[in-house]
Amino acid sequence: MTLEQEIQKRRTFGIIAHPDAGKTTLTEKLLLFGGAIQTAGAVKSNKIDVGTRSDWMEIEKQRGISVATSVMGFDYKDLKINILDTPGHEDFAEDTYRTLTAVDSVIMVIDCVKGVEKQTEKLMEVCRMRNTPVLCFINKLDREGRDAFDLLDEIEEKLDIKVRPMSWPIGMGKSLRGVYNLFENNLNLYEPSKTKKVTDVVEIKGIDDPALEQHLPQSSVKELREEIELVNGVYDPFDTQQYLDGKVAPVFFGSAVNNFGVRELLDCFIQIAPPPVPRETEERQILPEEKKFSGFIFKIHANMDPKHRNRIAFARICSGVFKRGSNYYHVRQEKPFRFSNATAFMAQQKETVDEAFPGDIIGLYDTGNLKIGDTLTEGEKGLYKGIPSFSPELFREVINLDAMKAKQLEKGLNQLMDEGVAQLFTFEMGSRKVVGTVGALQFEVLQHRLLNEYNAKARFDAVSIYKACWISAEDDAKLDAFVKDKYRHIAKDKEGKLVFMAESKAWLQMVQDNFPDIQFHNISEF
Ligand code: G4P
Repeated sequence: MTLEQEIQKRRTFGIIAHPDAGKTTLTEKLLLFGGAIQTAGAVKSNKIDVGTRSDWMEIEKQRGISVATSVMGFDYKDLKINILDTPGHEDFAEDTYRTLTAVDSVIMVIDCVKGVEKQTEKLMEVCRMRNTPVLCFINKLDREGRDAFDLLDEIEEKLDIKVRPMSWPIGMGKSLRGVYNLFENNLNLYEPSKTKKVTDVVEIKGIDDPALEQHLPQSSVKELREEIELVNGVYDPFDTQQYLDGKVAPVFFGSAVNNFGVRELLDCFIQIAPPPVPRETEERQILPEEKKFSGFIFKIHANMDPKHRNRIAFARICSGVFKRGSNYYHVRQEKPFRFSNATAFMAQQKETVDEAFPGDIIGLYDTGNLKIGDTLTEGEKGLYKGIPSFSPELFREVINLDAMKAKQLEKGLNQLMDEGVAQLFTFEMGSRKVVGTVGALQFEVLQHRLLNEYNAKARFDAVSIYKACWISAEDDAKLDAFVKDKYRHIAKDKEGKLVFMAESKAWLQMVQDNFPDIQFHNISEF
């Protein structure tokens, strides 16, 4: 097969949701369709159990298990589909953001009872940064959910994206009778079943086909016809290009646990979702069909065993062909590396990979040379674009408790930051080091891992910092003047970018008002 054919065969997407919306269940049904797993219940939830939410060792163990399930490849109708799962736990939101840089599109799961939830909104913001195409699955139709039109309005309003229903529910909860597939113009009647793989669809000739009445009560047919008329009146016809540009989200309705409405979603997805898309770097755009290999690291998972400090770096292939055992150029370190041990993720197994193509995700064993955002090429220099960091929510100062081990502490902190456990900010004044995280758990993780893996003792003390804002200005002199004026509150992130550490919301607002020429950013990429 040619490189072009390999590319056209691939669909790499992320599956995102607020916890409990049904992400794991939907993933499992998709894998069942692909024949990648045989029984329901085989996919381990990436969700942290309620009972262990405060026990990070347990969480890390669960995360260890979830490495295998965080990327799942399977074949479906001549296509190679790669699903990237994302952690639902809020404290690992950064992980999710980074994973989204490695996908070409996403499927977003929404619970029809709860509608758009907090995490869904945050995730959508990330998708919008790259105009990632989004397809929505409104789940749990077997429950008494909210009105379909209301749900669609809420998506448009809260997620700031236009929607286009592709299927339409016939009833909901106890009165759920089926879904009408607007994309294929057929009818899927509902039969609750947790084990059935495929439900038969009823072929009909459009919504006016009298055959509808043979399958549904007259009152349902009447209501369905009225609703479809309304749908076609309110929403523009589906336009694939608008979806690919991230402007319109096609919406499907179903019930993942009953494997209902999932086939419609998958069959439409494989027709409209994009194959591997080009990637921007600081130098130029990389096209997937370029002959030379390139890829980047978006996730690093540490080994739980402290005796073996090796890690798995997840690389997304952007162009060319990855060949195991070849030398590849590490752009940041400016030297070649050889990866003799690479892993492919097929459903639940990991298997050694000899060749991989654009869109594929491979696991590379690493002893500390790779960090998130690193690019590997076949020799080309300068092809680099890091992965954005978001302003953390919690801040604490690092206090070294053993003066003899300062080096170990520094090394440990650096490596753990490379893995993306937290973010480090070093103050210009006095070299104070402050760590920022999304959740309180990460401080415990850091403390424990510093001690066990690097033999470094540290404490994390409370500091009064409300927000870290990356700063920029059109006029360098104005930026310099601001930095001088506020030098006690200026730090640098790991990349050396300038950050303003605001003590409170009110004070940040005041500073912003007083310095209108300075831009304050919540994201390190602007
Ligand atoms: P997540 O990965 O997004 O966090 O969600 P997950 O798939 O684990 O689903 C969360 C809960 O919602 C699960 O119930 C799951 O069975 C249920 N669920 C998923 N799809 C549907 C659906 O279409 N209808 C209904 N009624 N429920 C659905 P649980 O009680 O937390 O776990 P379990 O013991 O049932 O597995």
